[in-house]
Amino acid sequence: MRMSQTGDLWWKTAVVYCADVQTFYDSDSDGIGDLRGMTEQVEYLADLGITCLWLMPIYPTPSKDDGYDITDFYGVDRRLGTHGDFVELVRTARAHGIRVILDFVMNHTSDQHPWFKSARRSTDAPFRDWFVWSPTKPKTNPKDVVFPDKEDSIWELEPKTGEYYLHHFYKHQPDLNVTHPGVQEEIARTLGFWLELGVSGFRVDAVPFLFTPDRVPADHHHIRFDPKRYLADVRKYVTRRVGDALLLGEVNLPYKDQKTYFGGADGDGLNMQFDFAAMQALYLALAREDARPIEGALRRRPALDVTSQWANFVRNHDELTLDQLTDEERQEVFDAFGPEPGMQLFGRGLRRRLPSMLGGDGRRLRLVYSIMFSLPGTPVLFYGEEIGMAENLDVPGRLSVRTPMQWGDDPSGGFSDAPPRKLTRPMPDGLYSPERVNVANQRHDQDSLWWFIRNLIRLRRQYPQLGWSTVEVPRTKPRSVLAHLAKEEDGWTMLALHNLAPESALVDVSVGEVEPGSTLYDLLNDRSEHPVGKDGSVQIEVEGYGYRWLLLHRPGDRPPQ
Ligand code: GLC
Repeated sequence: MRMSQTGDLWWKTAVVYCADVQTFYDSDSDGIGDLRGMTEQVEYLADLGITCLWLMPIYPTPSKDDGYDITDFYGVDRRLGTHGDFVELVRTARAHGIRVILDFVMNHTSDQHPWFKSARRSTDAPFRDWFVWSPTKPKTNPKDVVFPDKEDSIWELEPKTGEYYLHHFYKHQPDLNVTHPGVQEEIARTLGFWLELGVSGFRVDAVPFLFTPDRVPADHHHIRFDPKRYLADVRKYVTRRVGDALLLGEVNLPYKDQKTYFGGADGDGLNMQFDFAAMQALYLALAREDARPIEGALRRRPALDVTSQWANFVRNHDELTLDQLTDEERQEVFDAFGPEPGMQLFGRGLRRRLPSMLGGDGRRLRLVYSIMFSLPGTPVLFYGEEIGMAENLDVPGRLSVRTPMQWGDDPSGGFSDAPPRKLTRPMPDGLYSPERVNVANQRHDQDSLWWFIRNLIRLRRQYPQLGWSTVEVPRTKPRSVLAHLAKEEDGWTMLALHNLAPESALVDVSVGEVEPGSTLYDLLNDRSEHPVGKDGSVQIEVEGYGYRWLLLHRPGDRPPQ
């Protein structure tokens, strides 16, 4: 049986869309998006064509890290709705062919979580061991501080006991001691709970931090904790509960380290991980108008077992992190896409969305999404990308890219009936205001970005082979052009060409050995056919910032539909 013909590895051909309930759609006019609003917009998501909805955290929270600081892993934040509303959303989404996955934070809680409130009281308090304590202040390697704008250590003094607790993120997010059987049990119980409510899996937050050596408390070094084994246990557990459950992990590490989080040869770890390395290399390539950085990344991208998958993205809810680039390379990207200090964050990233980084150049914007959707792997969109929403730099920190979805052209952007001052966050004004950038206008204009993205999604769904394929990067001239091949094991092949420079280019490339009489068929633009030379070589013109998806058509293949 060819695995690709079974539906159980659904994530390999999914189109994922990340949304935050509080900024998506407000159904009760209080200015805050809610679960009922999200449910009302399922039709919209289905029309766009996405097949998996990733919800950012919906749990009760003091919201000091926008919901990534949780006080009850089983709960639903009251402002967003109830468990009943949540189940309605999952059920409605499923009826439209959309699965829901939930952000899950197992690295830390809020300091307002009852476990931590108890733990901090005394050294023998209930739940004390569920967090990580040290009687003296261990040294912090500055590299380990995730939010250097607010923190300078990963250990914080708890004055009541005179001991220090571990927190890789903000000090109000104490790290859980995942080596503790009680914590492990509770994580499993929570995952099981949400699976029972119908989710198809989880986006697992901050995975590598779970496994840092400082996690095991100094006086507990007798505990034998094997992180990879633990991850495999979690995977086994969730797939026992729901056979095709997804664990999509946030692991921002170089490929060789990242690979191990997929588990062993049969993929018993995370089943999908974001490709941070290619994402960062893509920005460097765009800044230089030279394809080599992204080509290098794609060549280094490890091959995976059949059940595992890369997730391709160009933006997400955090800063655009460039931490895998060298200082000089990062500076090049800053100079090109975020020169002002107010656009930069933590010395490693940009708190911007893509359209404004590209100076509103629609052609380049389409180029980037064409690259993202043509790459083997699973595409992941962040809400608003489909209409080219920009950030609001007046909103502090990473929240600048988390402004409400722009549905219409009224001052509250069709997001809410409440006046703008009551909205979750202020929308951008000027060039990217809801008046200029909104869903309603673009859905009525077939030349809009919305229709372009919708078409890319349609092509992904028409050619599921893209999700099953692996990437090959042939030698190409000129350097400004990225050429990559998506190849499936039965010989299905697509050549994608992307010109990162403004001048048009005549591209020389080889698709490898082909049967005589093979042609390349243009899927995206003009449906033109191009003969392929005996040695697989082709010469094709690509306009400045142009893109082409060319399906290999062998003699005897059915005509492309
Ligand atoms: C992840 C999230 C980020 C959050 C952090 C702490 O990196 O993407 O938004 O602040 O974890 O939970």
